[in-house]
Order: sequence, then structure tokens, then C-alpha cells
Amino acid sequence: MDIKPCNVLEIGCGTGNNSIWLAQNNFDVIGIDTAEIAIQKALEKASKANVKCTFIEINFLENKIEGAPFKFVFDRGCFHIFSSDQERRNFAENVSDHLEKDGLWLSIVGNADELRDHPGPPQRTARDIVNSVEPYFEILSLVSSHFESDRSNTPRAWVCLMRKRSSI
Ligand SMILES: C[S@@+](CC[C@H](N)C(=O)[O-])C[C@H]1O[C@@H](n2cnc3c(N)ncnc32)[C@H](O)[C@@H]1O
Repeated sequence: MDIKPCNVLEIGCGTGNNSIWLAQNNFDVIGIDTAEIAIQKALEKASKANVKCTFIEINFLENKIEGAPFKFVFDRGCFHIFSSDQERRNFAENVSDHLEKDGLWLSIVGNADELRDHPGPPQRTARDIVNSVEPYFEILSLVSSHFESDRSNTPRAWVCLMRKRSSI
């Protein structure tokens, strides 16, 4: 599915690479993170790249983010941090609360199908994802892929695109 430029919230934006990419591709972006140092770096990177992007240090789970409702929410490696079904459900409900009708959420999540003997991102099963998001989202696609990075042996990931349920 082609996601057209719109207002987007990136949750757990880290040092801002994906927010900056979205802004360079004509999205109106708010990137948020709880880590002060990450937000500082993101602001520096956006300024260097001469890109207009809003970055805010804030906890997504404890605040309503200014700018809501969004048409699109993106997270890479934030939703997957939460290890219990209930925490992930709370996160999914909160994403839904920040989206407008039919709004989309794209989440990139560590994939538990990778057997590994070295450290890496948290790993979740497809069932972990489905159990927690389904009450609030219709899953449009759930694809086994890899995290994009400069490293050669990139960890496996789920790429999950969801649409807010109209009954919510
Ligand atoms: C694994 S990092 C991913 C960073 C970035 N998205 C990337 O792909 O490089 C997860 C990020 O989520 C942030 N985070 C965790 N819980 C959060 C919350 N409740 N609200 C906002 N950000 C959060 C962390 O501070 C961290 O920067």
C-alpha cells in the first residue's frame, strides 16, 4: 500500500533518522522519544539536513501528543520493547487513540523466528503482535523481513501495517 504524505507521528524516534526521511519525503512529522539525548541528536541531524521536523521529548504512554489525530503512526523498535501482552495492548490502544478514522500504523518489530546466540532487538512472535493489536486494528499485512541497517547480518523483523478499526 502506498502511504501518501500526511501528518505522521513517529513513536520512539531515537536520533531521528526515520522522521527525517519522512520529512524529506513531504510528510509533516512529529518524532517523540523519552530519551533527552536522542531528541537532542535528532534536532541536530534535522538542522544539518535542513529539514523541517518537530522532535519532542515525551512519554507516549503517559501523554496525549499534540497534533493528534494523525493519519499515520510509525514506530521502529518501540512497540516491541514491551514484553507483556497487556503492555502491548495498552500501547496499541494508545496508538489507536492518536489516529484519525481509518488511520494507519506501520510497526517494525523484532522477529522471534530468528534463532540467535548473540544479543539483538527484542523478539516477538506473530501471535504476540496479533493478540495485542487486533482489538484496535485490522491487520493489512504482516510480513517477515529484516531491519534495514548498514550491518551485513541484519536481524529479522516483522513489518506490520494496520488500519484503525472503524468501530473504535
Ligand atoms: C530500539 S530504540 C529505536 C529507535 C529508532 N526508532 C530506531 O529505529 O533507531 C526504541 C526507542 O523508543 C524509545 N521509547 C521507549 N519507550 C517510549 C515511550 N513510552 N515513549 C516514547 N519513546 C519511547 C526509547 O527511548 C528508544 O529511543
